[in-house]
Amino acid sequence: MAKRIFSGIKPSGSLTIGNYIGAIRNWLDFQDEYEAVFCVVDMHAITVPQDPKTLNKRTIEIAKIYLASGIDPKKSAIFVQSQVAEHAELAWILNTVARVSDLDKMTQFKDKSQKNGRESAGVGLYDYPVLMAADILLYDAEKVPVGEDQVQHVELARTLAKRFNNNFGETFVIPEPFVKKSGMRIRGLDDPTKKMDKSSSSEYNYIALLDDAESVRRKIKKAVTDSGSEIIYSEEKPALKNLINIHSFFSEKSPKDIEKMYAGKGYGEFKNDLAEIVVSFLKDFQQKYNSYSDEEVIKILKEGAEKARLIAEKKMQEVKKKVGFII
Ligand code: TYM
Repeated sequence: MAKRIFSGIKPSGSLTIGNYIGAIRNWLDFQDEYEAVFCVVDMHAITVPQDPKTLNKRTIEIAKIYLASGIDPKKSAIFVQSQVAEHAELAWILNTVARVSDLDKMTQFKDKSQKNGRESAGVGLYDYPVLMAADILLYDAEKVPVGEDQVQHVELARTLAKRFNNNFGETFVIPEPFVKKSGMRIRGLDDPTKKMDKSSSSEYNYIALLDDAESVRRKIKKAVTDSGSEIIYSEEKPALKNLINIHSFFSEKSPKDIEKMYAGKGYGEFKNDLAEIVVSFLKDFQQKYNSYSDEEVIKILKEGAEKARLIAEKKMQEVKKKVGFII
């Protein structure tokens, strides 16, 4: 069996450079060695309210971003989660294996339900990690390249796979999270204690991959910095450290070299240069993005779903047999 990887992104906002650095960029490295399956997880997106028209538009937008990033549909399957019904089917079966105590540990649910209180949080939001486990286990993915914030969810997929295998016999491959060191958590530009988040209420939290040059310059100019004026890469200066990490990713220079480049210079110069580095990357990126038409992308997604379905259907047959369903 080919070694497989699986990953996905929710169409719940405009994708940020955090999503690119933490996830998509790392996917590219796997395309040749692994059979890669990349999903736009719209069923995850609706665990918080979405405007249907916007969801529809964003789903295609994310697929275009995958393509513009260099995911090659000839090598990898790119598809939309809701077009392969087996995701929901397996999630239901895994619901009977998951325990309330497993889900109570999930920090993302705690964070997301904090605002309006646990009692009014949706059941889908609570159950979200089980659907994510289904996504991964359905494809026998060995590796799951994600940003740091998703590691706990991949760990849950491991737990459920092991428990299912124990109860019903060897069925699922035990997946491993893959987090690249350079895929460290990119922090919010307005608050380095939080991650850069496409669902953030303030546009000053993130740089979107589809932001225009003026917005990027404005956002970086406004980004919070720490006290002092030197460009130093240190834990004590989390806001600056985050900006240096972003610089380092796009300029391919190490944080130490960046410190040296700006010795004796102030935040102003550093921020101006950083903005231009990001603008230059986004210019090329958006050119590729704009070269795809919606029709072309919808066709690629349809073909991707067909490829994914071949794997998913086979796996579901095996799972159904194991739990005693009539095939
Ligand atoms: P999502 O849509 O929130 O984020 C997509 C990917 O981007 C990474 N990421 C970040 N990395 C670094 N810094 C940041 N500020 C940052 N923000 C986001 C995330 O870690 C993720 O890898 N539950 C998932 C989607 C999902 C999935 C899956 C992923 C559903 N099923 C199966 C892998 C496998 C999510 O909400 O990611």
